[in-house]
Amino acid sequence: MTVTVPPFAVIPGAQVQRVLRGREAEVVTLVEATYRLHGAGDSVNPPSYFLRFPDRPSDRIIALPASIGGRQRVDGLKWISSFPGNVAVGIPRASAVLILNDHDTGYPFARLESSIISATRTAASAALAADWLSRGRERPARAGFFGVGLIARYIHKFLAATGWSFGEIGVYDLSAEHAAGFRGYLEQAGAGGQITVHDGAEQLIRSSDLLIFATIAGQPHVTDVSWFKHNPLVLHVSLRDLAPEILLASANIVDDVEHCLKASTSPHLAEQLTGGRDFVDGTLDDVMAGRITRPAGRPVVFSPFGLGVLDLAVGKYVYDEVRKAGELARVDGFFYELDRYGKR
Ligand SMILES: NC(=O)c1ccc[n+]([C@@H]2O[C@H](COP(=O)([O-])OP(=O)(O)OC[C@H]3O[C@@H](n4cnc5c(N)ncnc54)[C@H](O)[C@@H]3O)[C@@H](O)[C@H]2O)c1
Repeated sequence: MTVTVPPFAVIPGAQVQRVLRGREAEVVTLVEATYRLHGAGDSVNPPSYFLRFPDRPSDRIIALPASIGGRQRVDGLKWISSFPGNVAVGIPRASAVLILNDHDTGYPFARLESSIISATRTAASAALAADWLSRGRERPARAGFFGVGLIARYIHKFLAATGWSFGEIGVYDLSAEHAAGFRGYLEQAGAGGQITVHDGAEQLIRSSDLLIFATIAGQPHVTDVSWFKHNPLVLHVSLRDLAPEILLASANIVDDVEHCLKASTSPHLAEQLTGGRDFVDGTLDDVMAGRITRPAGRPVVFSPFGLGVLDLAVGKYVYDEVRKAGELARVDGFFYELDRYGKR
């Protein structure tokens, strides 16, 4: 077998979006397979590394290195910035690149725009969890979106594209402008059902059976356990909205226990409060493998920390599709110093 340095390609957002458009169901299946692979131990997913800045406390850049085995066999790194102040000046909060590394040589062979990949894998994971955690019972028909930026829009898109429809959609955001913008998106997307913009968190929570948290809150701001007494299914994608007491009154499903109980997430706070992890019922992989079932009579909270393996799987899928279409933009000579004793 001849091992060579793979060519290096750059895949911009326009190509990423072209590949992923209309493929929501396929991506959910891919994310499910990746969770199963991760659950079976055929992955390496070390802790994310948070780069924070003393002079800019609300900003951060996170490194998510990962490796997946299986058929995909690829290593890589997502490097994703969160600068919440961007939104006020009209550009998205998050920006990201994904590097794919060759399994055999370790060489990076692609760099992909990755804010779309990240939003896509996050939304696919949320839709997957909503599906598995509502199996065997009536699907929630009243959805509530709490915090409505890009991630909320992607989650709605993935739910709609994978068979969900809602009789009522509630919207709540600290910013009236963002709430109105999301309402406009829902109307344009033909979401159907009655759309209500709430001016309080309590109203939204009490009137929703499927709740999607996608704010940028750094610490819990929803603290009243009684708001959840109708036992909704909660996709706690932004991870830090709910007081630990709410988690302790709920069934808790995470994507990965070690990852999720870190970085002052609500599950991390619940662990600190109780001194243990007994409040965690299991992972989504446990649910999919039938090792646990959704407990009745309590709210269910899915808290996905967001695993680098998902970015890698979706990124490799995009790369393969662009390559198959013969549309890879290669950067010739990117790796240049390749002769051990110098070019002759
Ligand atoms: N778990 C994961 O895998 C994962 C992946 C990607 C993003 N996220 C998280 O999703 C969240 C949303 O990301 P985004 O790109 O859509 O952000 P965004 O800034 O575009 O939107 C966030 C929205 O939340 C609103 N908001 C902030 N605080 C609020 C509060 N206390 N109550 C109500 N609304 C509030 C803001 O006004 C804004 O409209 C972020 O916290 C991000 O870290 C999680």
